[in-house]
Amino acid sequence: MTIRPILIHPDPRLKKVCAPVEVIDDELRRLADDMLETMYDAPGVGLAAPQVGVLKRVLVMDCAKGDEGDGPRPMVLVNPEVTWASEETRSYEEGCLSIPEQYAEVTRPAEVRVRWLDLGGEMREEHFSGLWATCVQHEIDHLNGKLFIDYLKPLRRQMITRKMMKLKRERARAKAEA
Ligand code: NI
Repeated sequence: MTIRPILIHPDPRLKKVCAPVEVIDDELRRLADDMLETMYDAPGVGLAAPQVGVLKRVLVMDCAKGDEGDGPRPMVLVNPEVTWASEETRSYEEGCLSIPEQYAEVTRPAEVRVRWLDLGGEMREEHFSGLWATCVQHEIDHLNGKLFIDYLKPLRRQMITRKMMKLKRERARAKAEA
């Protein structure tokens, strides 16, 4: 498994609608393994393929940390689709590995049902609530080129984007000097 570099906003690859996965092969399984490794290393609770520069509809997540008595629960969702969303909403302070150290309240449906393919090519469907529901919706947004800051007012979004541009310049400079 390899830790892959995570793209930082703004990046045109984070704004693209990703293509459905047609074949589940070794390359895709390697991508999923690398994404899980990259997510745990960050650390984060979710990661979508475009965040590592792969424009395919794949996401990984593990929100089990807060659950009572549960060990890790790494999940890989291929071609995920929301099949039902609750009318009840929930606000959660979200962050994103592509927008480091920036957090903001986002309101989304409190519970969702999601259908996806697992790495064995089997169709799965599950009901998500709590942090899992927030996370899976945030990650599916990534597959449609949408970031959590797109839910914020334009001024707030621009402020965060400027901070990220500055961070990227600083990182590039540090790399050049190294
Ligand atoms: Ni994100």
